[in-house]
Amino acid sequence: MVLFLVGFSILLTIYFGGLLLAEGKVTVGEITEFIIYVNMLTWPATSIGWVTEVIQRAAASQTRINEFLNKKDFTTYYLSSKNKNSIYKFENSIDMVDVSYRYTNSNKVAVHSINFHIEKNNIVGFVGHVGSGKSTILKILAGLITPSSGSLFFDNQSSNNFNWDEFRNNIAYVSQNIFLFSDSIRNNILFGLDAVDESKLLKISKNVSILEEIKSFNQGFDTHIGEGGVTLSGGQKQRIALARALLREPEFLVLDDALSNVDSETELRIINYLKSLRGITIILTSNRLSLLSQCNQIFVLKSGEIIQEGTHLDLIKEFGEYQKLFINQMLLK
Ligand SMILES: Nc1ncnc2c1ncn2[C@@H]1O[C@H](COP(=O)(O)OP(=O)(O)OP(=O)(O)O)[C@@H](O)[C@H]1O
Ligand SMILES: [Mg+2]
Repeated sequence: MVLFLVGFSILLTIYFGGLLLAEGKVTVGEITEFIIYVNMLTWPATSIGWVTEVIQRAAASQTRINEFLNKKDFTTYYLSSKNKNSIYKFENSIDMVDVSYRYTNSNKVAVHSINFHIEKNNIVGFVGHVGSGKSTILKILAGLITPSSGSLFFDNQSSNNFNWDEFRNNIAYVSQNIFLFSDSIRNNILFGLDAVDESKLLKISKNVSILEEIKSFNQGFDTHIGEGGVTLSGGQKQRIALARALLREPEFLVLDDALSNVDSETELRIINYLKSLRGITIILTSNRLSLLSQCNQIFVLKSGEIIQEGTHLDLIKEFGEYQKLFINQMLLK
C-alpha cells in the first residue's frame, strides 16, 4: 500500500512538475530533487507500518507466554527444582497419601483424599466415569501438577523434596490429548532426541504396531504430518505418541487413555509388548476391560475418590461399579 502511494506520488510529481516546467515556474533539477526526496522517505514510512505490526504480534505472543509462566503449578515445580535432592531412579514403590487437587480456575475439588500404594514393575489401571479424576491423578504422578494437599512419595521420598527437572527423565507420559507437531513423523517420534539409532526407531515403531503404516506412506518416516502432509487417524497418533514415549526408555510410563482409538487386536499386541519390558512400571487409564484385565492392580474412581481396589478377577466378583462396567461391556459384545 505504502509502495503504491509512493509510486502514485512520483507520477503526480512528474505530471504537475511537467505542467509547472512548461510554465517555466520550476526547473528539471528541482523536480528531480523532489523525486529523490520522496524516495528517501519511502523506507522510513514503510518501516513504521512494519514495526507497528511486529510490536503487535510480539505483544500477543508475550500475553500467551505470560499465561503459561503464571500457571501456579509450573512455577511451583520450576522454583522448587533449585537446591533439592536429586533422585535419579526410583527403586521400589509409589505412594499417594491423602492427596487432593483443585484446579486453580475451579472451585470444585477434582480428586480428594486419594491413598494408594503401587509396587514397582507393575501395571496399574485407573478406571471410572468421565470426570471422575483419572487424568488428574495421572498428571500428579507424572509431576505435571502438584497436589493441593497431601503428598506423593517415590520410595518414601516426598515429591516436594526432590528435583523434578531431573526426576522427570525417568518418566514418559502420553496425554489423553496428543499433540503432534507439523513436522515429519521421525521428528515427532524423536521429539528433541537427536542421536537415535535408526534400528531402534524401527524396532520401537514395530513393537507399537505402527511401522507398516509409516512404511506405507510415500516418504516413510520423513512423511510430514498435518498441513501439507498426511492426516493421521486417532489410533495412528496414539501409537506415534507411544513410540515417542518408549524411545526414552522410561522407568515409569504414564498412559492416559493412550490406546482408546486402537483396535482390540492391536491393543493386545501392544500390551503384551509392554508387559515383556523389564523394569518398567506402567500406570494407565482406560475404560476397556480388555486392557484393565491385563493390569496387576486396578483402582476404581468415582467423583474424585477411590471407591474400589483390586485385581480384575476380584473386582468382577465384587458388587459395585467395576462389576457394572463388566456387565455392560459383556452385553455390548
Ligand atoms: N484444566 C482443568 N480446569 C478445571 N477443571 C478441570 C480441569 N481438568 C479437569 N477438570 C475437572 O476435574 C475433574 C476431574 O477431571 P479429569 O480430567 O481428571 O477426569 P477424567 O476421569 O480423566 O475424565 P475423562 O474420562 O473424561 O478423561 C472434572 O470435574 C473436570 O471437570
Ligand atoms: Mg481423562
